[in-house]
Amino acid sequence: MFSPQGPTLRELAVQALSSTERGYDLLAPAFDRTPFRTSERVLAATAEALAPLGPPVTALDLCCGTGAGTGVLRWLGAERVVGVDFSAGMLAVARATEPAPWEPEPVWVRADARRLPFGPEFDLVVSFGAFGHFLPREWPVLFGQVSAVLAPGGVFAFPIAAPPPVGSRTYLTLAGFDAAMRLRNALWRPRFVMYYRPFQLSAVRAALERAGFGVSTLPLTGLGARPDGSPRCRLVLARRAD
Ligand SMILES: C[S@@+](CC[C@H](N)C(=O)[O-])C[C@H]1O[C@@H](n2cnc3c(N)ncnc32)[C@H](O)[C@@H]1O
Repeated sequence: MFSPQGPTLRELAVQALSSTERGYDLLAPAFDRTPFRTSERVLAATAEALAPLGPPVTALDLCCGTGAGTGVLRWLGAERVVGVDFSAGMLAVARATEPAPWEPEPVWVRADARRLPFGPEFDLVVSFGAFGHFLPREWPVLFGQVSAVLAPGGVFAFPIAAPPPVGSRTYLTLAGFDAAMRLRNALWRPRFVMYYRPFQLSAVRAALERAGFGVSTLPLTGLGARPDGSPRCRLVLARRAD
């Protein structure tokens, strides 16, 4: 559907009728050829914005999928890179992708982001393209888990897009997608949770602050500007308050 090597419409439909975890298991072999994988442009802009923080010693890519964000962590010079995801299929694809010989081999861990099996050991936690899989009522648990695995002074960083202008094509596409998912989940079990509209900066910032983070943002200017000049995408930097 997205490219000749990407998933077919039928494969996407079967995936969408599965649970979130099983859906990603099914999509995994073709995932890197879909627009759901975070683009190199967003990864590069994030990496550049994080570089002034200095290289982390240990770093985690939360909901790593096939490993898009682990490349950012290796590029930043992390000595230990961990990717965590609950889809065994996505992790199998990640494992099959060799890093460059001079880069650390990531450690791939299968776990639910709402129950992370780590202590307070990471200087940096990043996450890309996965927050739509968590309902707003799950954010306190999710952000609490991130806080629990960050070392003192550690940073949780992720890009967040500005909401599209009301009535724009992107706005209507997102609204339509959201409505279709709500209808699907009202009629069908297991649920496939993928709601991207609620994940907006003001609500996310408030939830992070309630979880004990100090929050700042950096404009990712390389990713373009909205008609009013504001950045299309920002990097959220949530620092664990100690
Ligand atoms: C759209 S993909 C993004 C993958 C990758 N971060 C990227 O940017 O290409 C979302 C990923 O989140 C994972 N995921 C969703 N909910 C999760 C959860 N509760 N715990 C762990 N992983 C989860 C899925 O398995 C999937 O690999």
